[in-house]
This record gives sequence, structure tokens and C-alpha cells, in this order.
Amino acid sequence: MGEHNLAEILIAEQEIQARVAELGQQISTDYADKTPFIVAVLKGAYVFLADLCRHLNVLHEVHFMAISSYGGRATQSTGVVRIVMDLPASPEGRDVLVVEDIVDSGRTLDYILRNLHTRNPTSVRVCTLLSKPSRREIQVPLDYVGFEIPDKFVLGYGLDFDEHYRNLPFIGVLKPEMYE
Ligand code: IMP
Ligand code: MG
Repeated sequence: MGEHNLAEILIAEQEIQARVAELGQQISTDYADKTPFIVAVLKGAYVFLADLCRHLNVLHEVHFMAISSYGGRATQSTGVVRIVMDLPASPEGRDVLVVEDIVDSGRTLDYILRNLHTRNPTSVRVCTLLSKPSRREIQVPLDYVGFEIPDKFVLGYGLDFDEHYRNLPFIGVLKPEMYE
């Protein structure tokens, strides 16, 4: 599994599962009389989404948008955000719930939110598994946050390092010597 590239486990599998269940219950309560239009941001959110939606007991739709924000180096954003795959359905008049893996600088989410708001949704909320508040360059509204984490490059549970390790059931920290 290449775990020699891991410095530590930051969030254990059981801890993630317990928190995802709580988020699912909270979202189900908040959207009790609605049918949320989930916009999951590929690729990082797919593992989180799969677990989260199984804790939802409200009707909901799942749609995907693919965004690319990383260029040459694997652990640093270029700040240039592109839509690689757009939504197949319109969120107009819908209660949109954006599901993200991690909010770092906030640039990706800021771009997504601006884009979604041009399509006249009724409401937009954000659910992210992870947030690195110390890294924020653009303030973005987060409605549901799984865990706030320190400024370390993490992988697993959908998050990748150079497209690898998304399958790990826990959140691990990449060894610092892998950054450069
Ligand atoms: P932002 O635009 O700087 O907020 O970065 C958001 C995107 O960068 C996320 O959707 C991730 O794909 C990626 N990212 C940011 N931090 C990490 C990390 O620690 N591990 C893996 N991917 C990350
Ligand atoms: Mg990524």
C-alpha cells in the first residue's frame, strides 16, 4: 500500500465513520422538508459522498462536477481552477448542497460557489469533510465541517497524493520529505 510514505495517521477510520454519521443526521434534519441537489466535487469527494449519502434519510439527488486546481507539483495548488466536467442537470430553483473533500486556500470552493450562484439555485450550502483554516486565502462559507486540521498535506479517504492513496480508509499525513 506504499504506507512508507505516511508520517502518521491523523484521523482513524472509526473516527471518520462516526463523524460522517453525525453529519448525515444533521443534514437530514436540516433538509427534512427538502430534496437536496447534491453537487459532489470530483474526484476527492467520492469516498466521503458514498458514506455520507448512506446516512441521509431525506430524498436527494447526487450530481457530479469535476474541477482541476493542481498543476505540475502534486502538493501545491496553481490557484488556476478549471471545470473539467460540468453538471449534467440545472440546479436552478434547487437546494444545492456542495460536498467537498477539503477546503485549503478556498480558491476551488470560491470558484464553484460563484459559478453555482449564476445558475439561480434557491439555496446553496457546503459540506466539507476537512478544512485547513490556517491556509485560507479566500473566505468561503462552510455549513458542515467534518474536521478542522492543521497545515499538513493529507491523503486517504478520497484525497490523493499524485492520484494515489484515495482508497485508504483513514486520513494520513504525507511524510514532509515527499513535499519537495
Ligand atoms: P483549495 O482550492 O486550495 O481550497 O484546494 C482545494 C483542493 O485541493 C481540494 O479539493 C483537494 O483536491 C486539494 N487539496 C488541498 N489540500 C490537500 C491535501 O492536504 N491533500 C490532498 N489534496 C488536497
Ligand atoms: Mg486533489
